[in-house]
Amino acid sequence: THTFDLVVAANRLPVDRVVLPDGGTEWRRSPGGLVTAMESVMRGREGAWVGWAGEAGDAPEPFEEDGMFLRPVPLSEDEVAYYYEGFANDTLWPIYHDVIVPATFHRLWWTAYEKVNRRFAEAICDVAAEGATVWVHDYQLQLVPAMVREMRPDVRIGWFNHIPFPPVELFAQLPWRRRLVEGLLGADFLGFQRVADAHNFLRACRQLLGLSTKGETVTSTLEDGQTRVVRASAIPISVDFTGLEELSRRPEVIQRAKEIRESLGNPETIFLGVDRLDYTKGIRHRLKAYAELLEDGEVSPPEQVFMQVATPSRERVDAYRELREEVEKEVGRVNGEYGDIGSAAVHYLHHSYPRDEMAAMFLAADVLLVTPLRDGMNLVAKEYVACRHDGAGALVLSEFTGAWHELHQAYVCNPHDIAGLKQTILTAMRAPEAERRRRMKAMRRRVADHDVQRWASRFLEALEQAPAKPTRTP
Ligand code: G6P
Repeated sequence: THTFDLVVAANRLPVDRVVLPDGGTEWRRSPGGLVTAMESVMRGREGAWVGWAGEAGDAPEPFEEDGMFLRPVPLSEDEVAYYYEGFANDTLWPIYHDVIVPATFHRLWWTAYEKVNRRFAEAICDVAAEGATVWVHDYQLQLVPAMVREMRPDVRIGWFNHIPFPPVELFAQLPWRRRLVEGLLGADFLGFQRVADAHNFLRACRQLLGLSTKGETVTSTLEDGQTRVVRASAIPISVDFTGLEELSRRPEVIQRAKEIRESLGNPETIFLGVDRLDYTKGIRHRLKAYAELLEDGEVSPPEQVFMQVATPSRERVDAYRELREEVEKEVGRVNGEYGDIGSAAVHYLHHSYPRDEMAAMFLAADVLLVTPLRDGMNLVAKEYVACRHDGAGALVLSEFTGAWHELHQAYVCNPHDIAGLKQTILTAMRAPEAERRRRMKAMRRRVADHDVQRWASRFLEALEQAPAKPTRTP
């Protein structure tokens, strides 16, 4: 097989294979922030991407797309249920997001997680050239670094966590906590979204494994008495600022933004929410605040409308199913109560949209509501900022997102504080144009300077500089 100097591994490939009603298949861009970011990084780097094609059963043959070599990893029906829906999204995801819903622990899920991580490691080793750089992504693949190291001591291994890394008090609940940390310590360099995430990881090394840390590094002693030094630091992810800015300047996108405003009856204020339908995103809190504002008469259609895009996600996991039911019931109630003929209070869209349609929505929206209870970064906030080439628009942003640590000119909120959230929404809506523009300008500068290309270079440089070979203890 053809081998590569750069190998990226993520649970998902950038595209999903979808079976159509007529039995044919189609490739579709897969959801989430990871793919959004890595897609633009990989374009033009001539690397291989190892990942799952999104359906159970045999994997398609490796293929090329956009100059990337895609190497699908198969998951059986059971593995989708145990490794992906189970361990990754019903055990790790809740623990890593402050246990917003309780985590479920099953030994069977753990076994599948190990097995699938091994399969990913083997696929990586298959396509990695001698001395290659291997870049592993996210919580689904935490055992992969150590597995690859064992098979291929010649390669350099980095891991980036797109989601938060939990405080040790929560992480400690995991029966397999030790194994997860050991899996990660197989890497040369570990990247996190926030400084606090890197610190949480280093604390877990100290408190759960008794390792010693110094600054950003942790030292572990190997079985043969050699020591390895691993660095853990914060390198916050970003978006393709130039690409989004260009997209949003296209005449057809600007025209589409106008049409969206018109279809909504040219309101004074369009509020927009864009999220995967996930309980971490604070969609219920947002809806509650908005419903109360309608009740108070502070907002009302057709002058104000709220458009919520909720991208379908992990639909077979109970917590997601329950969330969908609650959200849809509440949207129905709010529209029944406050809507009128031809004038809905909330426009709820349970679809995923192509990039150009999203850019048009961002351009059409006066206020973007980003209210997660916990979020590693939240790239939607940065996408909005990148699309506002007109310098208008306002961002309401939860302090529990990674994005908040960079976008201090947003209208900050604590989504648990409904009274405070309502006030922030009104403040953003009523702020003088000049103030909103001043804030947007500063945020745009930040995202333009710290775009996804810069993030990728920073990560790869840090990986390059990481101590490579084990050193003998004196
Ligand atoms: C987040 C995670 C990604 C994940 C994405 C979509 O962004 O960090 O790893 O791919 O959500 O979730 P899904 O379960 O559909 O892959």
